[in-house]
Amino acid sequence: MQTLVLANQKGGVGKSALACQLAYHLARAGKRVLFVDLDHQGNSTKALLGHPKTSPCAFSATHLLEGRGGMAPEAALALIGADSGLSGLERRPSGHNGFVEALRAFLVCATDRYDVCVIDTNPNPDIRYAAAMIAADHVLSPIQLNQEAIDGIGALFNHARYGLGKIKATFNPNLNFMGILPNLVEPTPFQRNNFAQIVRHFPQHLLEIQSMPKLFALIQKRSVIAEAQASGQFVADMRKTAARDTWREIKPVLDLIARKLSKEA
Ligand SMILES: Nc1ncnc2c1ncn2[C@@H]1O[C@H](COP(=O)(O)OP(=O)(O)OP(=O)(O)O)[C@@H](O)[C@H]1O
Ligand SMILES: [Mg+2]
Repeated sequence: MQTLVLANQKGGVGKSALACQLAYHLARAGKRVLFVDLDHQGNSTKALLGHPKTSPCAFSATHLLEGRGGMAPEAALALIGADSGLSGLERRPSGHNGFVEALRAFLVCATDRYDVCVIDTNPNPDIRYAAAMIAADHVLSPIQLNQEAIDGIGALFNHARYGLGKIKATFNPNLNFMGILPNLVEPTPFQRNNFAQIVRHFPQHLLEIQSMPKLFALIQKRSVIAEAQASGQFVADMRKTAARDTWREIKPVLDLIARKLSKEA
């Protein structure tokens, strides 16, 4: 099992939407997928529960981190859902090491039952975010093409407590930074200029989707994606022209992520 965390300290960049669409896609491709929602907002949980293929676990993500979770069912798409208790974990510092260990031990036990574990995280990093980064194999960071996001790329690596540098050096040397994925991209000169800045300063962190000529992966802002997420649907299953067009755009990006996960398996 390979574990992928969707992480960005900024809110609203598409972590949950991309995590859910990736999970549906992997499950449809025959992978056994375990989804863990560590964000008490529960946006992914709500979306996934709306999808008929999701098998919810009997315990929540808080129970999992407290070491009170059971075993997740063998299923094409199993969900350990978010609950309101998640936001209180940060205020229990004496439990923090235990939360990290519980998540790590749970994933070790689950390793033969699933092919991929997708973990959605909260913005504003805390112990849940840290636990996910410490237990995971890969991190993918959706971003929006605004100046704060570009400034935030530095924080993603260098944040004193939760930066990738610190996590790798101290806790998880094998953590692979899969890359930055621009999302909610709009064809404006402002965004184009911001994208060009990222290509100039951080080309090694973008996902190369084509080599000749070199093209980097990105996902456009498409109302179908928001609609799919709001109604618990997989974009590939939606029956309208806009959905087919959007699926044609995002499938190569999800396939690229899937390939990067299976290459490591
Ligand atoms: N490419 C896209 N096109 C259109 N809408 C999108 C796209 N990606 C995400 N959205 C929508 O944008 C909103 C924010 O996305 P999402 O909730 O996935 O962000 P998030 O990073 O998980 O936010 P938070 O940090 O609050 O958890 C949602 O309504 C989602 O459906
Ligand atoms: Mg989210």
